[in-house]
Amino acid sequence: MNDSDYRLLDSQLSALLNSEPDALASASNFVAMLYNAMDDVNWLGIYVLRKHDLVLGPFQGKPACVRIELGHGVCGTAAATLATQRVDDVHAFEGHIACDPDSRSELVVPLIVNGELIGVLDIDSPSAARFSEVDQRGIETLCATFCRLQATRDHFI
Ligand code: SME
Repeated sequence: MNDSDYRLLDSQLSALLNSEPDALASASNFVAMLYNAMDDVNWLGIYVLRKHDLVLGPFQGKPACVRIELGHGVCGTAAATLATQRVDDVHAFEGHIACDPDSRSELVVPLIVNGELIGVLDIDSPSAARFSEVDQRGIETLCATFCRLQATRDHFI
């Protein structure tokens, strides 16, 4: 997808989530929408921050690891550093947690609402170096839209 594909997806995401006050329903639809829009992706979902662990939330793909400690794996690193992790080859990432042996590259974006980490969005691909800078930028924008809408909910996921 290019920048304009991501811009279109961003406006579709706003339309999809705007009128629904339930955070869990919104997170589930965000994940389903993105999974169906992206090629060459075998797992896509949200890990939610619960105390010191990331816990499996809404996702598409095979059953996955339920609990990840902060600082562990690609997801835990994104959460601990509050920085997107774009990993071209997960086998070269020290401490990578292999949930699905098919996964080769991974993009993990921290989800921050009102300055507070609420979880991460994790996307896995069976192809090495699947995620470009354009993908990173596009997905970060979608996550920012999702987080902005979360801020208006009664509760977070
Ligand atoms: N590979 C991730 C774990 C989550 S699964 O990919 C769904 C990690 O290293 O954090």
